Amino acid sequence: MNRIKPVIVLCLLCSINIVFAQPKTISQKVEALLKKMTLAEKIGQLNQYNGNWEATGPVTTDVGDKLDAIKHGEVGSVLNIVGVKHTRVFQEAAMQSRLKIPLLFGQDVIHGYSITFPIPLAEAASWDLSAIERSARIAATEAAAGGIHWTFAPMVDIARDPRWGRVMEGAGEDPYLGSLIATARVHGFQGKGLGNLDAVMACAKHFTAYGAAIGGRDYNSVDMSLRTLWEIYLPPFKAAVDAGVGTFMNSFNDLNGIPASGNHYLQTDILKGKWGFKGFIVSDWGSIGEMINHGYVKDNYQAAEVAINAGNDMDMESRSYINNLAKLVADKKVPIQRIDDAVRRILTKKYELGLFNDPYRFSDADREKHVMNTPESVAAARDVARKSIVLLKNEHNLLPLSKDLNSIALIGPLVKAKGEMKGFWSLNVGDESQIVSLYEGMQQAAGKSKLLYAKGCDITDTSKAGFDEAYKTAMQADVVIMAMGERPDMTGEAKSRSNIHLPGVQEELIKAISATGKPLVVLLMSGRPMVFNWTADHVPAILYTWWLGNQAGNAIADVLYGNYNPAAKLPITFPRTEGQIPIYYDHYNTGRPAHGDKDVNYTSAYIDLQNSPKYAFGYGLSYTTFGYSNLKFSKKSMAKDGEITVTFDLQNTGKYAGEEVAQLYLRQLVSQPVRPVKELKGFQKVMLQPGETKTISFTINKEKLAFYNDQLQRITQPGEFSLMIGSASDDIRLQDNFFLSH
Ligand code: NOJ
Repeated sequence: MNRIKPVIVLCLLCSINIVFAQPKTISQKVEALLKKMTLAEKIGQLNQYNGNWEATGPVTTDVGDKLDAIKHGEVGSVLNIVGVKHTRVFQEAAMQSRLKIPLLFGQDVIHGYSITFPIPLAEAASWDLSAIERSARIAATEAAAGGIHWTFAPMVDIARDPRWGRVMEGAGEDPYLGSLIATARVHGFQGKGLGNLDAVMACAKHFTAYGAAIGGRDYNSVDMSLRTLWEIYLPPFKAAVDAGVGTFMNSFNDLNGIPASGNHYLQTDILKGKWGFKGFIVSDWGSIGEMINHGYVKDNYQAAEVAINAGNDMDMESRSYINNLAKLVADKKVPIQRIDDAVRRILTKKYELGLFNDPYRFSDADREKHVMNTPESVAAARDVARKSIVLLKNEHNLLPLSKDLNSIALIGPLVKAKGEMKGFWSLNVGDESQIVSLYEGMQQAAGKSKLLYAKGCDITDTSKAGFDEAYKTAMQADVVIMAMGERPDMTGEAKSRSNIHLPGVQEELIKAISATGKPLVVLLMSGRPMVFNWTADHVPAILYTWWLGNQAGNAIADVLYGNYNPAAKLPITFPRTEGQIPIYYDHYNTGRPAHGDKDVNYTSAYIDLQNSPKYAFGYGLSYTTFGYSNLKFSKKSMAKDGEITVTFDLQNTGKYAGEEVAQLYLRQLVSQPVRPVKELKGFQKVMLQPGETKTISFTINKEKLAFYNDQLQRITQPGEFSLMIGSASDDIRLQDNFFLSH
């Protein structure tokens, strides 16, 4: 009897423990919650509505209906509701639902929230991973203080077609640079991890190959070999997974005939399968329903079936899920396990963000007031803005400007532009007084009394009525600075152009002002590479300034006056004309390569245009010059798992302190399948004082030599490699070969 008692007590304790055991880990909590959820509540979690703030597609309901739907547990996430006040209203509605599952608030925080940073393509030109990470960090800190949990960024689409309007939103054409920048941005947005009050969940988009839209026309089909997909378009997405990105967004395009939202191979086989991605996938805006237009499905019922079974977890604004999933489960077209898996992934993120502990933890009005536009953020915005400016030309060292100039003529349609400096995808910057125009930046740097101004012409208008005044203004000045370019809404979503020349009569105005014979600097503002051949060939100094955000004017003045020595390098090739597109540096050699720009005798060339671009990938000047010498290899042959260390000396051979982005390119000379003529495999941004020399080293290992074969296996092949080190993809300064043995 005495021996039985403790056993009974122990059993009792065990059963009490079983009955009252509290789930401890996030996974246990998710499973416990899932058990309580009805099918309708599960489907609600997969449904995302726009909050009627900024719509980039057709909106399906109005706010009143949405709050009602939220109270009924029919919505898991809302986009474009921002600010502590607004998000609180929506979260309070969610807290009235049966299970009180908090909402996720998402928005396109692409290059800043309150303070705007340079557009992503501009930041990519900095090749400065820590500056890029810092800009995302600040954007996240501000967005999180504004009630946002989730940004639909970074866009990591490789873009090789400057006609495509969204080229502004990514990191350019190169998978290596693009992967490093994807990592930096994910780290920046997610900070020390989800759950921290200054972190927002990132979203790698658009999965996938969206940037390869045929003809550069947004939303168009993509047709490419799977090998190109794996080699060029997937690496930045894989890098985002490795960096711990919380979510993915699929894309509007079809890839080889299969719309991305319904693509099982991409979403389930690659992303969730091979790459082991544990986060969730949201569709793009309405993209599930758009599979009807694609001609892939006949109605929303089939669209929902195909999308969920392909691995798409959340439906952004198409209503296909909310209206059809229950029936699809009843009809046994969608297994409940797939619904559970999608819900599980979404709930896990809500737990990781800490929303179940406190759904209002990102709704602190006091924090919201104090976090925005701090002096540190303003300084960081100016820093990354000037790091993004590319010096394309500087004949006779016209720049930097002398501080002794008496009068400076500022001419062009973008001199006094303020709001325009934000570029596309800046949804929340309301107060334009925070933005520094070129004119204001120059006022600060030079003093108002030295400045003369004439607009000259508009951006797209063809009137030349202002030319005369501009000419006269230029004639009175010691130097002329022209601010020319596109309108900011000429790049961005649905902003593709077939003609990427400097618009309107701007190049004619440049010609007219150039005729004054005054020293002339042209600033080009745009979200894409433009075509501006006359300017490139005749104007002595050109800076490509993109859209630089709030601190644009100060950053440009810093560069013009040499308070900052430009070091940016193009992350994308600039064509001579649209007829060369697509044009990129890492092409194959072909069987009949042209030797030089004049070799058109049955070679792979145009008879009416050179093959070379106007400005190559990796190109960008400095006010100083750099010398490369003394290339050394630790050995000339490596085994598959071995390494070679390569060193060289980089010297500042000019007058100014400055940074150089030294670039490493590799080419396997003989390989099956063939390899590109060169591929970026490393770079270092190095600061050097005048006369200073530093020894730089790169390590060559298996990873740098590997590629996908025609079976889509990542392999290395033994053989001879050419190693090239240079200042741009078309400015190789050091070169030698080495071998990979078996
Ligand atoms: C459509 C865009 O393609 C996507 O990038 C964006 O995140 C959504 N709209 C939401 O605004």
